Amino acid sequence: MLTLALWFSHVENTYASDNQDSHASTSYLSQQLEQLVKTNAPDERGLYYFVLPDSHNLTEIPQDPQNPLTLEKVKLGQFLFHETALSINPSNPKHWQQASCASCHFAQAGFRSNLPLALGTGGIGVNNSRKLDPEVSYTNVDKQKILAPSILNVAFQNVMLWDGRAGSHGLNAKEQFVNNTYINRYGLSGLETVGIDGITVHKMGTAAIADIPEYQQLFAQAFPDRPFVSAEVEDKKRAGLAIAAYERTLLANQAPFQKWLKGDRKAMSASELRGGITFFKSSCVKCHAGPNLANMEFHAVGFSDHPSEINGLNLGRSSVTRKAKDDFKFKVPQLYNLSDSSPHGHGASFQTLREVVEYFNHGEPQNLASKHSGNLSIWLKPLNLNDEEIRDLTAFLETGLRDPNLERYVPERIPSGLCFPNNDPVSRKALKCGQ
Ligand code: HEC
Ligand code: HEC
Repeated sequence: MLTLALWFSHVENTYASDNQDSHASTSYLSQQLEQLVKTNAPDERGLYYFVLPDSHNLTEIPQDPQNPLTLEKVKLGQFLFHETALSINPSNPKHWQQASCASCHFAQAGFRSNLPLALGTGGIGVNNSRKLDPEVSYTNVDKQKILAPSILNVAFQNVMLWDGRAGSHGLNAKEQFVNNTYINRYGLSGLETVGIDGITVHKMGTAAIADIPEYQQLFAQAFPDRPFVSAEVEDKKRAGLAIAAYERTLLANQAPFQKWLKGDRKAMSASELRGGITFFKSSCVKCHAGPNLANMEFHAVGFSDHPSEINGLNLGRSSVTRKAKDDFKFKVPQLYNLSDSSPHGHGASFQTLREVVEYFNHGEPQNLASKHSGNLSIWLKPLNLNDEEIRDLTAFLETGLRDPNLERYVPERIPSGLCFPNNDPVSRKALKCGQ
């Protein structure tokens, strides 16, 4: 066991050796990484193929032509995403106006939930101490049976949810004929679809904000064609469009790797640079490519389902396409700010990012049914990374891909004046709000 003194000298040594990673050696690593990133860029943009746009540069952000981005819409959406006053249809009246979209997707957790199963209305408490209100039954809460993915960098996906069922364009254009999913009735992109549908799914509505003058003004500025009146379907639809517009601006563009791509060669440590080299040299980039490090494909990589899954099997993409070749395939997730939240994987089957790296290095599926399906990706095979490579690849994920300033996307207040992202008594106390 290390004594305290030894531990301190160990820390100093690590520092010393990091400093000794002289400028010359990091610039050599930078050159190596640059070569590899360029090799993996499919077009002449080179490094810029991987760059996330600036959040204020609305024209550079991918968008649905039916929901063009405007600053007014983004501002309204920022409020609505955090607005606990939308939560007006809880199963138990006790939970009226206590949750928001950000209950399950909040900035501090990299827009994930920091829980194996996120909790909306019916939950009490903040961050990873949020739990079921012990006074109500399970059926009275908003709890989905799958890990809440991140909302960061979602502008770079055209279909949404782990099985990709939301969204009527791109990958779903053909699937809609086979399996006309009701949530796609508006003919919009995935993000707009989930924005609108999410309001109903998460037991929300716009009735209680309709007579707040600030919202009337915000809606008029965002959608000048028609006044905001009440709880009509049309108002819910526009609330969803505004939320989607805001979500498109949530970009991890201040992460060290992003700064490095844009020319700040000192933004990453030697260990992060080495990890980046491993990432771009090994299998990872076959699926985790593009500005959000997710290529919009579906793959079976053998992760377990969440134990609460009713029949123990989530077939993933094939539940949309109805094709056996898609059994156990899930959408490739984006990789930024994952270290702000735990656990990982659609079934919450990894506690740490190092565990995920070790899993891919080992190359053996957790979910045996996926192995027998014959659909497992050919990229799930032993990678033979050594300890140092595993450590560096983990550092690349944990800190190289972590934007340290996501709080810039959180509003200082919301127009209802209620507490947010949660407004239950336990959260109010923890947030020191409305006391
Ligand atoms: C109870 C927690 C909870 C609440 C509240 C919640 N979400 Fe989610 N969200 C989830 C879960 C879980 C998933 C994954 C569901 C799936 O894939 O089947 C998800 C998925 C998403 C996705 C898809 C992301 C992707 O990469 O595919 C978007 C977008 C999203 N939510 C937006 C919202 C919006 C907007 C609201 C508010 C209207 C909201 N969420 C409220 C838990 C929640
Ligand atoms: C064949 C495509 C593919 C390859 C290769 C691949 N991944 Fe993934 N990755 C996925 C998919 C699909 C998921 C989601 C699986 C699930 O949850 O069922 C995922 C999930 C992850 C997650 C968890 C994300 C979350 O939101 O919880 C991390 C971290 C990750 N991959 C990192 C890596 C690293 C590092 C490598 C290289 C060693 C790698 N991946 C190689 C497709 C791939």
